[in-house]
Amino acid sequence: MAKIAILGFGTVGSGVAEVLTENNDIIEQKLAEKLELKYILDVRDFSGSPFADKMIKDFSVIENDPEIEVVVETIGGAKIAYEFTKRALLSGKHVVTSNKELVATRGEELLQIAKDKNINYMFEASVGGTIPIIRPLKDCLPANRIDEICGILNGTTNFILTRMIKANLEFSDALKEAKELGYAEQDPTADIEGHDACRKICILSDLTYGRNFSPESVYTEGITKITLEDAEYAASGGYVIKLLGRAKLRPDGKLYMMVAPHLIKKECPLAYIEDAFNGIMIKGNACDEVMFYGRGAGKRPTASAVLADVMDAVRHRKARKNIYWNGSGNDMMADLGEHIYPMYYRVKSSSAKIGGVYKIACLLGESPDECAFITEPLSGNEHKERLGLLEKACGVLSKIRVLED
Ligand code: HSE
Repeated sequence: MAKIAILGFGTVGSGVAEVLTENNDIIEQKLAEKLELKYILDVRDFSGSPFADKMIKDFSVIENDPEIEVVVETIGGAKIAYEFTKRALLSGKHVVTSNKELVATRGEELLQIAKDKNINYMFEASVGGTIPIIRPLKDCLPANRIDEICGILNGTTNFILTRMIKANLEFSDALKEAKELGYAEQDPTADIEGHDACRKICILSDLTYGRNFSPESVYTEGITKITLEDAEYAASGGYVIKLLGRAKLRPDGKLYMMVAPHLIKKECPLAYIEDAFNGIMIKGNACDEVMFYGRGAGKRPTASAVLADVMDAVRHRKARKNIYWNGSGNDMMADLGEHIYPMYYRVKSSSAKIGGVYKIACLLGESPDECAFITEPLSGNEHKERLGLLEKACGVLSKIRVLED
């Protein structure tokens, strides 16, 4: 029998309690022992909940209970969640989390404590919701040099972009729907400004390259400037707009890392990922391209990944899994000014005026006072220079990266 405690009874925490209760027999059969939820910690009152008898408000009860083997942290954020995770690990309990902010910002330190204590800090649910990605990267692809990680890593923004196109919704209405469905973070700024996707690409890169890539060092751009017009022009040229988290290895061992909206060709497998689904493409020098797909957000899909880690932690109660990264990855990050890619522009002029500034590779649409086009591939530094010239020549309405071939 293994006993667990859940910290935080929000969307994910309540999902874990529900799925554990509903699938208890299946879990017991697969684990070959019983898994019991003993406590749920939350400062709020849940007296009407079916789990009311498990609710407590004092973390030290969990910390000091030798029966608790695994603590599930679903509080979110990097303050109280950090304190409780550290205390749980120091008291010798395995910790499982869906908290990407904490893993991305404090993972190195927490994994070191877990190592010192010979226990596990596990975070499969922190990237891609229900999608198995942490375990495959660590256990199935470790013999590869990973040349690229490119993914749709945020369900809320993918849902918004899909709803804008498919239901002709304004950005704010699509965001409202995402919040109602429980996809968005408490403060959706982290979703729409790209910070959530940034934390996730950092975690994947930390795990892959063994160094600590801090979210503040990664170029991050959200989707708030994307308009329905841009999406329509993109579609007319056979493209869709997706928010991508990317880490691309250069031959010299440096990484281009970024989170930004991109125009991607409709034939690209990532173009088919819609709604709150996530898709992650990993390119390795032996495995070639591997795609991972599934629900990237939501109560029960995320709970599924959390519970898989809980079961793994119980199975490995006496054998720590070797997950760690250390030392800053900043010196591995390449200058994005050297990265070569095409750009999409929508400008306040006819295409005749563009010729002096950019060579147009593909004209997506034109009216007397506006045109949209894709440029030739150039370096980030050259795009910066020409953007200045374009702004002077005609006024830029939108600019979005195009995923290079
Ligand atoms: N807000 C996140 C998303 C939740 O929309 O992807 C899952 O990490």
